[in-house]
Amino acid sequence: MTPDLEKVLIPSEDIQLKVRELGAEVTRDYAGERPLLVCILRGGVVFLGDLMRAVDLPCEIDFMDISSYGAGTSSSGVVRILKDLEEDITGRHVLIVEDIVDTGLTLSYLTRALLARKPASLEVCSLLTKPSRRKVEINVKYLGFEVPDEFVVGYGLDYAGAYRNLPDIGVLKPEVIGGGAQA
Ligand code: IMP
Repeated sequence: MTPDLEKVLIPSEDIQLKVRELGAEVTRDYAGERPLLVCILRGGVVFLGDLMRAVDLPCEIDFMDISSYGAGTSSSGVVRILKDLEEDITGRHVLIVEDIVDTGLTLSYLTRALLARKPASLEVCSLLTKPSRRKVEINVKYLGFEVPDEFVVGYGLDYAGAYRNLPDIGVLKPEVIGGGAQA
């Protein structure tokens, strides 16, 4: 564990078990279909990599990059598409793969934008949720873990670009968040 972490909230073994469960649910629900897993960059990358290997179906992947946060830890409420999908999702079964739903602003914007393209279905799979911070209601069909109102890093989630490669999900020491140090 990096010395920058105050505590581990979700150890890697628990994440791996949960991802396998979620993969099995997706496999069951999309049987006979060829879902398109849409990963939200960059936090969703690690989750997508594990989830797609737990899905026992032909599936495709695509990526979107959306800005909601700067280098700090609170939502700006400003959402911009930095990179759009390569695929035409009209008539496709689309599953958004996200790292964490915090205020819900990002996903609220994103689901509206994607629904306008007339997919056959659109669902959300998020590894984490912070329900206490929600500003808009989001229907997350596949959910990993609830986390308290603390800024978490690891398994794809970053602070100022760092810590995405940690296998566990944890909370940084307050002095690290103040000073912006790297693992
Ligand atoms: P929302 O629009 O407030 O729901 O924010 C969603 C995005 O904010 C996530 O996809 C993350 O990139 C980022 N985010 C929210 N909370 C955290 C956190 O605790 N750690 C790291 N990133 C976070």
